[in-house]
Formats: sequence, structure tokens, C-alpha cells
Amino acid sequence: MRNFSFQNTTKLIFGEGSISKISSEIPHDKRIMLTFGGGSVKQNGVYEQVRAALANHNYMEFWGIEPNPKVETLREAIELGKRKNIDFILAVGGGSVLDGTKLIASAIPYPGDAWQLVLNPFLIQSTVPFADVITLPATGSEMNEGAVISNLDTREKYAFQSAYPQFSILDPSTTFSLPPFQIACGIADSFIHVMEQYLVDKNNSPLMDRWAEGLLLTLIEIAPKIRQNQHDYEQMANFMLSATMALNGFISMGCFSDWATHMIGHELTALTGLTHGETLVIVEPALLRIMKNEKRKKLLQFAERIWNISESDEDKKIALAIEKTEQFYRSLPLKTKLSEHNIGDDVCEEIANRFYKRGIRLGENATINADTVKKILELCK
Ligand code: NZQ
Ligand code: ZN
Repeated sequence: MRNFSFQNTTKLIFGEGSISKISSEIPHDKRIMLTFGGGSVKQNGVYEQVRAALANHNYMEFWGIEPNPKVETLREAIELGKRKNIDFILAVGGGSVLDGTKLIASAIPYPGDAWQLVLNPFLIQSTVPFADVITLPATGSEMNEGAVISNLDTREKYAFQSAYPQFSILDPSTTFSLPPFQIACGIADSFIHVMEQYLVDKNNSPLMDRWAEGLLLTLIEIAPKIRQNQHDYEQMANFMLSATMALNGFISMGCFSDWATHMIGHELTALTGLTHGETLVIVEPALLRIMKNEKRKKLLQFAERIWNISESDEDKKIALAIEKTEQFYRSLPLKTKLSEHNIGDDVCEEIANRFYKRGIRLGENATINADTVKKILELCK
């Protein structure tokens, strides 16, 4: 086990009706900016609940943070925040609104351009306190420091580290209005967050393994039930908590992580606009097939403990486990091949070229270079 220090400072406030608790969580002397996406919160009653909770607070609203939040949009909010001396931000919506808010919060005190902070988070000097009402279980952004920001101009999409939300409100009933496609992407995203941390041979923590396996098994168990009835409060509550636990640091203490699927997936989104979860289910099965020797020990454990595969031939066992995983993604239902999205060689070439130029190596052992990325993308076709 690696040495580590662990501190996750986000207060989780979970359950139906918990949006009203905002009023006592934010001090009355704060000048608040509320941040929103494209309007889903007006249709599902979340906006009204937030307004009611803040009836005696001083707040302004910023609308229009889009999926895969763009720095171009966020610059407007940052400018407004600086002008109005905003000293608290409340994000209301999905992971994109919250990620965008993380950049706004870090960029308000920063004199330069916000994109510099994405490229080099060490420039962050301080961050305006922020919190959220999360309405889409997927990213884990409600309990981590990460954010992923896109740049329209350069067609880039990068993750950076900002700060933890002060508190996060998770009311599972807010997810009832989600389009089934977003639920499918959210389940896939949560599942693959766990896989990126779990399938690493050099990790030596039976405890972290079993926490990760608990999340994977839970997601496999609830996915068909949610597909049948997304208004089932208990199922959505378990989904919501699983998504949070999948990426809040609790399953990777003392461990290395992979994240290569995510890095390649971000490029696919940047170039084609595919939704985050959609990109992951395309890249991950191919990546596991190519990297199966480096991940052999954990893939065998995964085959046994998650899919109950008792095949004695190790290679067959791994192949079957990856096959079952891909079938699970297809059952969500999501497409797992680039050709199903009419994405061709030009995009694969461009992604490989980007990795050639950056010269960075991905994966838990930094063994995935641009050539490997090319091979993985070949197998995604
Ligand atoms: O914009 P509105 O109108 O609110 O609609 C959104 C959006 O169109 C809608 N939606 C959200 N909650 C809803 C709802 N519609 C009906 N009912 C509700 N309750 O869903 C659409 C997608 O929302 P978005 O926020 O983009 O989805 P998600 O939460 O999956 O976030 C995706 C972004 O997060 C990044 C991704 O790369 C992507 O940019 N990630 C962030 C991570 C993090 N911060 O740690 C880690 C992840 O790996 C991921 O990369
Ligand atoms: Zn993700």
C-alpha cells in the first residue's frame, strides 16, 4: 500500500426534501451566485425549491452552463462574479454545471485568464466557497475536487483540480426527470470510475478491492431495475450514492489509478461531441483487451467476483469478463463501437496525433503511448 493522507471536506446532505436545508447551510451575509444549465431545473421543480430555500438570502443567477462546460461561457460568469463581489456560489444541476462552477470559483480571485488555471492548476491562489444541488448521478463531482472543462476555440477538453464543494445536496427524487439516455451514461460513468481505480495489478489492498467490487455489483444489480422504473426512489437513491462513492477518493486510498480510458474519452468528446459516458463504454472494452497482460491479476479477480466466471483457461476467462462487461454497457443501453456513431479514421488519426504531440504516457504504469492509443482506437471501430 502506498503512503497517503486523506481528507474529503464535503458535507453530504442526502434525501428527499433536503434542498430546503440550503437556507441554514449558507450564511445570510453572503453574496451568492446561483449557476444553472439549460433549464431542466425549471421543469422538475428544483429551481422553485432552491428559490424558496434562499428567500431570505441575497443572490443572483447565471444560466447557460452547457454539457461539457465551455471556458468561453464560464468567462462571462467569472466576469460577473468579479464585478458583483460574489463570495459564495451554488451550482444547481448536473456535473457540467458543478464543474463549470469549480472553474468560476477558482477564477474569480485570479487576475489572469481562466483557461490558464485549467492548464496549470498550481496557479490557483484561492477559491470562492461553493456548494451544489446535484441532479444527475454520474461524475462524483459533488464530492471531489476535479472538474473537466472544454475549450471551443481549440477543441480541447481537460480535467483539472479545483476544490471540494462545501456541501452537496443529493435528493434522489430530482433524478426522476432525467432522460433515460443520461441515466445510461451516468451508470456507465460511475461503473468506469470504479474500474479505472480497481483494475490495477500493482495495488495491494483487499479492502479497497472489496469496496470497489461492492460498487460494481450494486450498479449491475440496480441498472435493470432503474431501466424498468426510474421513479423508484430506493433504486435511484442507491444509484446516487454509488455515483458519489465511485469518485470521492474512498476506494483508492493507498492505490494507483489508471484513467487512460477517460483521457482518450475526453478527446473523443472534444472532437465529436459524444457524451462523456458514451465515449467510455467504447474505449474501455478495447483498452482492456489491449492491456490485458498488464491487468491480468485484477481482470481474473474481476471475472470471478463480478461475473462468476469459473473458466480454467485464463485468457478465455479474461475475454469472457470483458465480453460480459461490454454486454452490460449495451444493456444500459449504450453503443460500444465508433462505427455505430459513424466516427471514422480521421478522428482516430487526430486523437493519436494529439497524443504524439503531447508525448505523454497514460495508464497506471505510464505504458500507454500514442501508438498504443492508436491500437486501442483501431479496436473501437
Ligand atoms: O443543462 P440542463 O438543462 O440542466 O440539462 C442537463 C444536461 O442537458 C440534463 N439534466 C441534468 N440533471 C437533470 C437533467 N435533465 C432532467 N432532469 C435532471 N434531473 O442532463 C444533461 C447532461 O448534464 P451534464 O451535467 O453534462 O452531465 P454529467 O453530470 O454527466 O456531467 C458530464 C460532465 O462531467 C465531466 C464530463 O467530462 C462532462 O464534461 N466529468 C466530471 C468529473 C468530475 N468532476 O470529477 C469526472 C467525470 O469523469 C467526468 O469527466
Ligand atoms: Zn467519468
